[in-house]
Amino acid sequence: MIWLNGTLVRGEDAMLSVWDRGARDGGAIFTTLRCYGGEPFAWQRHLERLVLSAAELGFPVPPGPAVLRDAVTAVLAAEGLRDAVVRITVTRGVAGGRPVRTGSWVEAEAMGGRLWAGTRQTDASGGPLGARVMFSRVPFAPGWLGRHKTTSRLAYDLAREEARAAGVDEALLVSPTGEVLEGAASNLFVVLPNGELITPPLDSDVLPGVTRRIVMELAAARGMVVREQPVAREALRAAAEVFVTNSVQEVLPVRELAGAVVPVSTVARTLLADYRAAVTAGRAFA
Ligand SMILES: Cc1ncc(COP(=O)(O)O)c(C=O)c1O
Repeated sequence: MIWLNGTLVRGEDAMLSVWDRGARDGGAIFTTLRCYGGEPFAWQRHLERLVLSAAELGFPVPPGPAVLRDAVTAVLAAEGLRDAVVRITVTRGVAGGRPVRTGSWVEAEAMGGRLWAGTRQTDASGGPLGARVMFSRVPFAPGWLGRHKTTSRLAYDLAREEARAAGVDEALLVSPTGEVLEGAASNLFVVLPNGELITPPLDSDVLPGVTRRIVMELAAARGMVVREQPVAREALRAAAEVFVTNSVQEVLPVRELAGAVVPVSTVARTLLADYRAAVTAGRAFA
């Protein structure tokens, strides 16, 4: 069941006009979040990113947060899900009409199929085994739209398919000048030998990941130094640890990078424990 423009409909009956710019031209934005025990985590942060993107990109006003929150509850109930991945999509609607309304829908999926092997498989301590990642072979230049989670995702999807074809969890996107920007569906963190955390800055047109920001806050609360600065591809080889973040995989240590073993991740595991504690406590992250 899908919530579409205010109504619950069966997936196969969920129709969007071919005149909708979301259907025609990739003119839509979305967010993907995880629900734990029926509760969306970091709800306000996800809605904030969606609403800010809608405003910055000149979209019609999306449905209000309370409407979307009720939609999530309705879809979870209809699907009988409590632990789930929820996606909220908002299109630019049909051009020309007045008022122009977005096309909006909310869908939910069981966690099972969405976890990467490195998240799903566990090590002796019960934590995630860790991701195997590669560098995408295609130089990546997202431009300013990279800061928005749009449905114009072909470049990201092709990088994900490179990863799938190579049998690894994630492909890291590297700029034409050799900066590692982010994963095809995750943000990147590097732990330097002195313990400092580095993550590529938002002005390199990476997605302002909800998990990225939460992890930066959790690290700062532990007194760790976190800096936003460019990460050169060669610098990754000298890193003490590498990890990636997103709302579904949470905080995922990288255990293999372009075929080379990456040291065991203790900082990532600490931050994952903090993240899960925040989930369990239902911390709001307003
Ligand atoms: C390109 C890209 N970067 C980063 C992320 C992580 O974002 P978030 O933490 O908000 O899930 C995603 C999420 O899918 C993504 O697609």
